[in-house]
Amino acid sequence: MSSSGSGLSSLKWQLALGLGAIGAIGLTYWYMKSSKKISLHSIEETKSNDVDESPFQRAQRYKSEGNELFRRGKYDEAILAYNKAIEIIPDEYKADLATYYQNRAAAYEQLKKWSSVIADCEKAIDLNNKYEKALYRRAKAYEMIKDFENALDDVTSVCLLQNFSNQSSLLMADRVLKELGKKNASEAIKTRKPIIPSKNFIKTYFASFSEDTVHKKLLETTPLLGQGELRGFLKAKLAFATEKYEEIIPACTEELNFSESESNFKIEALALRASFYFLTGQFKEAVEDLTSVIDSETAELSVKVNALIKRSSIYMQTEKLEECLADFEKASNLGPTISDVFHHRGQVMLLLEKTEEARKDFDKAVELNPNFPIALVQKCYTDYRYAMQVQDVDVLMKSIEDFRSAIAKFPNCPETFILFAQVQTERQVYQEAEELYHKALKVDPGNASVYVHKGLLLLQWKGDIEAAVQFMRQAIEIDEKCEFAYETLGTVEVQRGNLVIAIDLFNKAIALGRSEMEMVHLFSLRDAAASQLKIASRMGIGPKLMKGLS
Ligand SMILES: *[C@@H]1O[C@H](CO)[C@@H](O)[C@H](O)[C@H]1NC(C)=O
Ligand SMILES: *[C@@H]1O[C@H](CO)[C@@H](O)[C@H](O)[C@H]1NC(C)=O
Ligand SMILES: *[C@@H]1O[C@H](CO)[C@@H](O)[C@H](O)[C@H]1NC(C)=O
Ligand SMILES: *[C@@H]1O[C@H](CO)[C@@H](O)[C@H](O)[C@H]1NC(C)=O
Ligand SMILES: *[C@@H]1O[C@H](CO)[C@@H](O)[C@H](O)[C@H]1NC(C)=O
Repeated sequence: MSSSGSGLSSLKWQLALGLGAIGAIGLTYWYMKSSKKISLHSIEETKSNDVDESPFQRAQRYKSEGNELFRRGKYDEAILAYNKAIEIIPDEYKADLATYYQNRAAAYEQLKKWSSVIADCEKAIDLNNKYEKALYRRAKAYEMIKDFENALDDVTSVCLLQNFSNQSSLLMADRVLKELGKKNASEAIKTRKPIIPSKNFIKTYFASFSEDTVHKKLLETTPLLGQGELRGFLKAKLAFATEKYEEIIPACTEELNFSESESNFKIEALALRASFYFLTGQFKEAVEDLTSVIDSETAELSVKVNALIKRSSIYMQTEKLEECLADFEKASNLGPTISDVFHHRGQVMLLLEKTEEARKDFDKAVELNPNFPIALVQKCYTDYRYAMQVQDVDVLMKSIEDFRSAIAKFPNCPETFILFAQVQTERQVYQEAEELYHKALKVDPGNASVYVHKGLLLLQWKGDIEAAVQFMRQAIEIDEKCEFAYETLGTVEVQRGNLVIAIDLFNKAIALGRSEMEMVHLFSLRDAAASQLKIASRMGIGPKLMKGLS
């Protein structure tokens, strides 16, 4: 064959090879298909070449030629070679045909022709529905064109075929799930109705502040006037005391609508309404109210500092890190002796894995207020994390000792038992962890999340799925709004292959989700389970745990 002018000559060569065998019919066909004139010379030249070749052998030769061109980066020409191979391979060679399509898809991928990649992979997968390479390639193409639903199904197929043991496939699944979750969550957040979280959740939230002036006012027993119906903030106060939380936002709004002379509790109403906007996931409204408190000229300093801490925590949950840290900065300047500032900033630092900064903040928080158990025990926990991170045995032993003395000092704070139990679970001191959970339940029997933790302990300790599931079900019975229980039980059910049940549980958790960040995560879990269910039955493979997904 002549090798002048790469593109054209290779085309001629391919056509010629084909013509030699196809004969007259083929000739007409190729004249129609190709606008290029074929020289008699090239036909003759190749005729003698393939006397003994079967169509299959010829197809294989085209494929090899395609592969060689591919290796040399001549993707257009490789595609033409694969075209020929696909054209002439006899029907019965299904696996080889699938390979040709897959190879052509690889060439299209190099040319970024995503729709052609998808079309060719589809043909390959139609011929072999467990064709890992083709599934993975199509998943990548779908990802490129941001069709995350289809990308997920394909990468799920790949993960199932690889028994979830291939890191790069898992990472891709993770990536796609996050994108899908974001799409879902941003839709869901638009239509979501505010839900009052469980009583325990509300209690926990207020308990995380040691110096919340407005909360203290809510707890003070003021002689209620007794005559007539309460209005405004006083009505909200009664609602808080009687746990009729759904009445609080309207009552505060009423207070804020009073004329100046009528109202004594404008700041209190703003601060309380902000907390309930936050608790019900209405972050934008919460930030507005908190900003009014922060900018107010009449608000007490401690109320302003508390509002800054609360606003920064919303910024954290909405991924506005700069604003979050700026509010903490303002709060620490305004109230340098208020322990809550450092306690809450320490939590943020811990989340950001800035363990050293977290330790400094917790040290300061405890120094400023040694009588606040939650800050103390979180300090112990942070020291423990730090010790694990830098592998410092002395700090580790000290943090364990500190946990024990925290428990001795505050025997009625469930938080101390629970955090220490988590540490002991991690250190595989299971027996003590179990005892700690029992103690926590004695002090705080209504805390559903303790049951979830206990279930997790039994899972890790004894591999006892049944017992774990029972504890988690119990958590849901105690508190039907325990999102943590739905989510955790959902992942356990995925592990057992109960995908339908898992999806239902994730949907229940989603309905309780408050922040978009949380919802992204929950949707990812749900979508992973849903895709596994679909694919496992399509491919006839048993569902497996989607390990390694966050
Ligand atoms: C996955 O597991 C199945 C059966 O458990 C096994 O036949 C197959 O070879 C495994 N595949 C991989 C990629 O490990
Ligand atoms: C992991 O999966 C990808 C995509 O299927 C594949 O290219 C790669 O070779 C696999 N790695 C291992 C170690 O199996
Ligand atoms: C979430 O995504 C799935 C799959 O894309 C879709 O079927 C569903 O309607 C979405 N749900 C919401 C609430 O956006
Ligand atoms: C309930 O338990 C969780 C940990 O599982 C803890 O963070 C929370 O503070 C507890 N609630 C109360 C009101 O103590
Ligand atoms: C605010 O007060 C005005 C009159 O004082 C009343 O007409 C209006 O309905 C009130 N709005 C709300 C939201 O309570």
